Amino acid sequence: MTHKNTIIPVSLGHRSYDIEIGSGLLAQAGQIVARFLKRPFVAIVTDTNVAQHHLKSLEVALGTAGIKTASVIVPAGESSKSFEELAKTCDALLGLGVERNDVVVALGGGVIGDLTGFAASILRRGVRFVQIPTSLLAHVDSSVGGKTGINSRHGKNLIGSFHQPSHVIIDLDVVRTLPRRQIAAGYAEIAKYGLLGDASFFAWLETHAPDVLACDAAALAHAVATSCAMKARIVANDETETGERALLNLGHTFGHAYEAANGYTSALLHGEAISVGMVQAFKFSGRLGLCDKDVYLRVKAHFEKAGLPVDARRLPIDLPSPEKFLEIMRQDKKSVAGNLTFILARGIGNAFVASGIPDQETLAFLKEDFAAA
Ligand code: GLY
Repeated sequence: MTHKNTIIPVSLGHRSYDIEIGSGLLAQAGQIVARFLKRPFVAIVTDTNVAQHHLKSLEVALGTAGIKTASVIVPAGESSKSFEELAKTCDALLGLGVERNDVVVALGGGVIGDLTGFAASILRRGVRFVQIPTSLLAHVDSSVGGKTGINSRHGKNLIGSFHQPSHVIIDLDVVRTLPRRQIAAGYAEIAKYGLLGDASFFAWLETHAPDVLACDAAALAHAVATSCAMKARIVANDETETGERALLNLGHTFGHAYEAANGYTSALLHGEAISVGMVQAFKFSGRLGLCDKDVYLRVKAHFEKAGLPVDARRLPIDLPSPEKFLEIMRQDKKSVAGNLTFILARGIGNAFVASGIPDQETLAFLKEDFAAA
């Protein structure tokens, strides 16, 4: 383990870029971003919360490198992933004079990265953007891979595009100021990488999760770099999710449905929803005879220790009936001809894409799981 900066390439031909991970990178953003500019100007998109903590530092860092800045500040929260906020953001960026060759910086968590990336992908038919993620979840998942988008009343992220960033700047120091609940929610995505494809990383997390959650510098750097490296490899193999990339949705078919049932309020964070979803994916795999019936208990114990929810019935939402829940799950983007696709597992670190799971199996599982004591 090391405290030095780490560079992880995402190899996508002419859309290749680097993920740069380290401490104090926000202060170095001027030199880093300058490499991508055709003129010394960037537009920053951020939200009301992040602006309070980090906007000034970023403006100073860019200003020191001679880069002029202008900002668009959107309301904090998932509700900003809407057509209304997308329209306002595009209009504001055009109003600031953003040109075809300019770079837009997304400074914030997943909502800002997804909204800004989508705006960048359609503004003047596509401008470049740089991700500076400020939440742990955005560090290890949403800032990497080029998925951008907004939500619909029909479900999460149903409207969007693939638009790769030109660079990702991950300053590990910014997560230190986050509330513990946010860190735990981001941690769920870190554990996901171990569960889907790296049993030894999961075993490492079983020992070191408390250090990662406490933002110990070395443990956090290792966990974020390992997660980003796996995501970079998967995205390089399958940018537009025709196969392997779907593995990154472990726990998400269930998880997105909890978020939809909750109306995307902050009562339930994405990481909390997928924590329950990942436990269920392993439990469902056991029920279908794909892996040892008890593997899910190890997954459950891990998330429970991390302070994450592991039981659908304890979520702070009105749990729909199993039949209604199945309908909500059908909006999942992995559905083909109305049939649900799950990410299931043959064991820890051995997930696979399972299509054609009969509805009656899913319904029987949900009935059992929602009723279990
Ligand atoms: N968050 C899943 C993906 O980027 O594919």
